[in-house]
Amino acid sequence: MEKLCEPHINDSIRMEKVSYSIGGRSILEDFDFCLERGGNRTILGVSGSGKTTILKLLLGLLIPDSGRIFIGDLCITGLPEADFMCQRKRIAIVFQGGALFDSMTVGENVGYRLFEEALHPEEEINRIVLEKLSFVGVESAVDLYPAELSGGMKKRVAIARALAADPDYIFFDEPTTGLDPIGVFNICSLMQRLQAEGKTTLMVTHDLATAFATSDRFTFLHNARMLFDGSETELRGCTTVPGLSEFLQPTKSSLFT
Ligand SMILES: Nc1ncnc2c1ncn2[C@@H]1O[C@H](COP(=O)(O)OP(=O)(O)OP(=O)(O)O)[C@@H](O)[C@H]1O
Ligand SMILES: [Mg+2]
Repeated sequence: MEKLCEPHINDSIRMEKVSYSIGGRSILEDFDFCLERGGNRTILGVSGSGKTTILKLLLGLLIPDSGRIFIGDLCITGLPEADFMCQRKRIAIVFQGGALFDSMTVGENVGYRLFEEALHPEEEINRIVLEKLSFVGVESAVDLYPAELSGGMKKRVAIARALAADPDYIFFDEPTTGLDPIGVFNICSLMQRLQAEGKTTLMVTHDLATAFATSDRFTFLHNARMLFDGSETELRGCTTVPGLSEFLQPTKSSLFT
């Protein structure tokens, strides 16, 4: 599958008219989305609106009911996993809960993929692990287990793990949920540094402060559809989109709706 690894004319990650349902309930309907290389983007939506589902579809972990998904020039929809692995390796994800392996040390977690794929000699992997842990500011935790870390440290280790294989695209699923203000600030700063280094970031969240601190462009997902796509100024000025005003500024009338 050598040719699938070649450079791309159209280097973006895209969804074309993607529909996806679970147990008869529509999660996405005719969803169009494009993340250009070098860009940064946040998908906003209430809990349960389908944000994590979008990331899983883009990674090829879920298969759409209809529509197509592209990584670069390659349409991954309908391809066996082995045939698009070369492309998927260009994307890393920081999962919603961190998803660290509890039985492994921090260092083993960060180096997991590199060890599994024997991408480098062991000494080089250990060097990369320390470099990534240092980037996120937790190199002193290299020999600890996830249970010995705070929530903020776990998130930072999860970011270090995502960075280990030097991806072009990094997906963040609710990276600041549950953190104190300093933890939120740390994660936002890390995301900004990654963007400055040329990484393309896609975040899904319902945390507006994190979104505005780290993104230039916003997509609002509501009732299985993309109802808004634009800048922060456009988002704040948009009063006609169903569900958006309540999302940006909940009122008493939003209770239990
Ligand atoms: N494996 C599954 N089986 C049944 N329903 C599921 C499954 N995975 C997701 N869902 C449902 O699909 C919908 C979208 O889920 P998803 O996790 O994408 O939402 P989300 O926007 O990421 O929510 P949150 O902000 O709480 O993380 C939810 O209603 C969820 O209950
Ligand atoms: Mg989610």
